Amino acid sequence: MEIQVDVRKAVWSRYWSHGIAHSCGGSYGNRYEGSLARFWRTVAGDLPAGARVLDIATGNGAVPQLLLEGADSPIACDAIDLAQPDPPWLAELPEHKRRQLRFHGQQVAEALPFPDTHFDLVTSQYGLEYTDLQRSLPEIRRVLRPGGKVRLITHHTDARPVRLARTELGHLDWMMAPGGLLELGQAMIAPMARAATEAGRAALMADAGANALRAHFNVLQGEATQLAAGSDCPDVLGDARVELGGILNLALAHGAAVAHEAFGRMRRDLDDSRVRLQELVDYALDDAGAQALAGALARGGKQQVEALFDDAVLMGWRIAANPV
Ligand SMILES: C[S@@+](CC[C@H](N)C(=O)[O-])C[C@H]1O[C@@H](n2cnc3c(N)ncnc32)[C@H](O)[C@@H]1O
Repeated sequence: MEIQVDVRKAVWSRYWSHGIAHSCGGSYGNRYEGSLARFWRTVAGDLPAGARVLDIATGNGAVPQLLLEGADSPIACDAIDLAQPDPPWLAELPEHKRRQLRFHGQQVAEALPFPDTHFDLVTSQYGLEYTDLQRSLPEIRRVLRPGGKVRLITHHTDARPVRLARTELGHLDWMMAPGGLLELGQAMIAPMARAATEAGRAALMADAGANALRAHFNVLQGEATQLAAGSDCPDVLGDARVELGGILNLALAHGAAVAHEAFGRMRRDLDDSRVRLQELVDYALDDAGAQALAGALARGGKQQVEALFDDAVLMGWRIAANPV
């Protein structure tokens, strides 16, 4: 099912507004490291002074950050994203570097706000494959100068981030199913609020419906623990369990209304995660897809597609295209 563009824009803008540096939270700390960082530093090292670079689907600018660090001389980097970036690292960037970078939020790759033949290099990491390639590739060709280059890292159908995303989507489906952990957690708010007083607790003891609900909720909490224990990415499940516990404590301490508000925020965060994870899985490229993308960019020029590993872990495709 295709997700509407305004939903995607809102979901990604919320994600970047949390000060997150990049979109591979499960694999790196607050910045890309290892072979991904090395790749971009090598690209940066080849840039001549004054080179004009465009980073597509930049998010919070992980690629521009590495390019600015790796370039030996000043460059001019424009960075666009469908969403509104909110890069936490920008304030710490020295002024002379900051002047080399311009973010353009709420700009899509399918209609680039730049003149023809403007850029020496177009980059994207886990980004270009999210766009409508029928429309974004002609735009890239338009803004790239003759002899300009394209360097990409894309999602790979068998890579770790995609594998983890599939598992996490399964966990979300399990939690969010009708009668699942989330629905029962929400239903538990009212009895927890009643349990704040002695009279309420006495009434609850005699309430068969409330007792059955609590027993069922506890069974699902136990199942969540088991699912998490058997998984190599238990974060979504574990975090949701802890957060639900906090929301029920909130109901006890401050009443149902406050707890329902917190539940609404949690629900929206989970819905957002589901959109981002589903996109990640849907837009990942297999070998044929990666070759086709490189071919469409190079149009007979030099092209290279390689699987990108970090410490023997598959992280994506590395694509180079020098269009003729
Ligand atoms: C997985 S994130 C990658 C962000 C960043 N490149 C990184 O490596 O951390 C994908 C980004 O693509 C952006 N995006 C999706 N469709 C887009 C489009 N059509 N034009 C521009 N950006 C788009 C999203 O808003 C999101 O910020």
